[in-house]
Amino acid sequence: MSETVVEVSNLNKVFKDFWGRPKAKAVNGLNFEIQKGQVFGLLGPNGSGKSTTIKMLLGLLFPSVGQVKIFGEKPTNLDVKKRIGYLPEETTLYRYLNPEEILDFYASLFKIPKADRKKRVDQLIEMVGLDHARKRPVGEFSKGMARRIGLAQALINDPDLIILDEPTSGLDPVGCREVKDLIRLLAKRGKTVILSSHLLADVEDIVDNVVVMYGGHVRSSGRLESLLQEDDKHTLTFETKDEELLAKISKFVSEELGDDVGLKHPKRSLEDMFLQVISEAKSDSITTSGADYSGKVAAYLQEESDDVLEKLTQVEVIEEKVEEKAPEIKEDVFEEVMQEEPQVEEETEAVSEAKQEEQKEEINDKLSNLL
Ligand SMILES: Nc1ncnc2c1ncn2[C@@H]1O[C@H](COP(=O)(O)OP(=O)(O)OP(=O)(O)O)[C@@H](O)[C@H]1O
Ligand SMILES: [Mg+2]
Repeated sequence: MSETVVEVSNLNKVFKDFWGRPKAKAVNGLNFEIQKGQVFGLLGPNGSGKSTTIKMLLGLLFPSVGQVKIFGEKPTNLDVKKRIGYLPEETTLYRYLNPEEILDFYASLFKIPKADRKKRVDQLIEMVGLDHARKRPVGEFSKGMARRIGLAQALINDPDLIILDEPTSGLDPVGCREVKDLIRLLAKRGKTVILSSHLLADVEDIVDNVVVMYGGHVRSSGRLESLLQEDDKHTLTFETKDEELLAKISKFVSEELGDDVGLKHPKRSLEDMFLQVISEAKSDSITTSGADYSGKVAAYLQEESDDVLEKLTQVEVIEEKVEEKAPEIKEDVFEEVMQEEPQVEEETEAVSEAKQEEQKEEINDKLSNLL
């Protein structure tokens, strides 16, 4: 049974001036629930109330009306706070301390034993790709490097609820991808993640549920998949260089559906292209004084979960990868085609099993590298 981690009911926040007169109505009648293991996106234009909502979830601001419950308790409860990790929208760090000292300081606030502290700090610094800069004062860091330390600080207590206010702001594309992969992995481990971001492509890649705010109100909400799916449009993706076959298919479809049919090559994303360029630069041993990329997730963030992680991820990851390979094939179209052509299904079953086996092996390899 799913467990409700966050419950927000009729939440309102009015900022008042010195004389108690309303200055800004930041949040206006907000209602939503977040279940354990969900990645929840809080979207909206500047000033729509995202950060104010987040601060009320953290117990840093009090609602004017309405209430927030986190793990069934008030957000001001200390036991609740211990289970939350927070990355604020602005990274504010003690500029004369280095990453080791900063993370050790935050770990001591959570009363993490000294031996564990050292391990976690080392693993986090490696995970965010700043091993070579661990002794440099963070005042010298670039914006994205400081953001990486902010992210490490948000995870130092191995939180059950992670609240990230614009986590990818200032990060380069490799950092963005790493943060997205990390969020997915944490959610698979049963962690709940709330994130606000203006980078919709990043949000689209990772969130399960979304709320779009405007002027403090919720304008749209629900499962991202159902919000984005255009039920009356279909894309069929297949590989061929046979121009004759393409012309035949195109002609058939045009005859059936009229001229309003597009035939074009799918494109890989700019993110994929960028990641390839960087990985080539890395394999050419080009050095950088900026962020380096370990691709490793801190081991303690995966602890006591190796078996569970494997069980939880194996099937789901395979599904994800299959989707990634052919994102344009919508499930319903696929099913329709399969129903119409049962023979094709039989013929291709063995091939698709072999492909899945191959993908399973590839994913297992990747997972064992990751772990
Ligand atoms: N401390 C404050 N005092 C007065 N008004 C505030 C305060 N904090 C926020 N506001 C106002 O509340 C509204 C919502 O602000 P909020 O920071 O929540 O927006 P946001 O959605 O996070 O925007 P952004 O995308 O720019 O981060 C804005 O009108 C803002 O001016
Ligand atoms: Mg904000």
